[in-house]
Amino acid sequence: MTTRPQIDTEFPLQKYNTFGIPAVAAGFVRLCSDDDYVALMESELLRNSPFFILGGGSNVVLPDRYDGIIVHPDNKGVHLVGTENGVAYVEAGAGEVWAEFVDRCIDNGWHGLENLASIPGCVGAAPVQNVGAYGREAKDVVAQVHCYDIQKGVQQWIDAADCGFGYRWSRFKGEWKDRFLIDRVVFALTCDFVPDLSYKALATAVAERGIDSPTARQLADVVSEVRNSKLPNPKTVGSAGSFFKNPVVDGTTYETIRSEYPDIVSFPAGDGRYKLAAGWMIEHRGWKGRAMGRAGVYEKQALVLVNLGGCSGADVRILADAIIADVYSHFGVKLECEAIFV
Ligand code: EPU
Repeated sequence: MTTRPQIDTEFPLQKYNTFGIPAVAAGFVRLCSDDDYVALMESELLRNSPFFILGGGSNVVLPDRYDGIIVHPDNKGVHLVGTENGVAYVEAGAGEVWAEFVDRCIDNGWHGLENLASIPGCVGAAPVQNVGAYGREAKDVVAQVHCYDIQKGVQQWIDAADCGFGYRWSRFKGEWKDRFLIDRVVFALTCDFVPDLSYKALATAVAERGIDSPTARQLADVVSEVRNSKLPNPKTVGSAGSFFKNPVVDGTTYETIRSEYPDIVSFPAGDGRYKLAAGWMIEHRGWKGRAMGRAGVYEKQALVLVNLGGCSGADVRILADAIIADVYSHFGVKLECEAIFV
């Protein structure tokens, strides 16, 4: 006999998005077990109504009301699948809290996630937007993704090589949007720890603390400290982390901008292209610490938009659009949002 998924109606989402927007969903389905996923697939609910897959809600801007089904993967579990040639294959449920998962891996001697410590959100979202920080991205550690094909109702494994990972991007965010529901991820981690200090600001922070050769725990702690000094604590100030992506421009555009703004912060992005620090441009235009309505630009990091109290999705949209228009008119560069408007 087929079990039906449990649907909560008129479900409040304020606690389910780090921006703290008091949204309400027409329907809400929590997935805690394999049976929950199978029941949802067999119900064909997602083929008959609009839906949105909401993990930790750390990268979304919700509307006041969502007139479809919010699907919330909440299945836990972390286990070692096997070890081969110094690589530990570790599987984690989509609902595992990312930061706790990173800590647990460090405690178990499974390495490669240290630079990604303290990022808000859940494991299932990591491959979707290829989360990244301090020189590492999910694509460096994801081996395989297990998911349900929503259209066909079947389960399948997808190899990392087929995910189309890019900067804050994967096929799950592009052509596969609304097609796959991820329930577990397998990570390829290393049994030996080799610190990745390729991100200059991180190497500096480690050196400033008088650490020569950090242990995995020390490195993760430094990452957490640097993050906490720049990013708002989601428990006290609502935000979605970096709101905009750092734009990548061609060499000619870069030279034109640099001739007018010699101080602009940029990084070579390969093929003669450059990644520009959006935070620098937004700060340069005087937005840091500014407010529009109930949304504001965080005073310590201009890439982050914050909830000043009672903020709606519309408030965020107005502020984001104003920043995009202003940066475009001065630098000729169109910023793209990293956060997703639902
Ligand atoms: N900068 C400014 N003003 C600002 C912010 C940044 O001048 O208000 C300059 C900094 O001085 C620095 C450069 O911009 O020279 C880069 O800043 P930072 O190292 O803080 O990184 P970011 O580009 O602002 C990105 C990620 C973050 C990630 C950090 C560290 C994106 C969109 N954001 O931010 O990711 O933690 O690098 O790797 O790529 C997130 O995605 O939510 C996120 C927090």
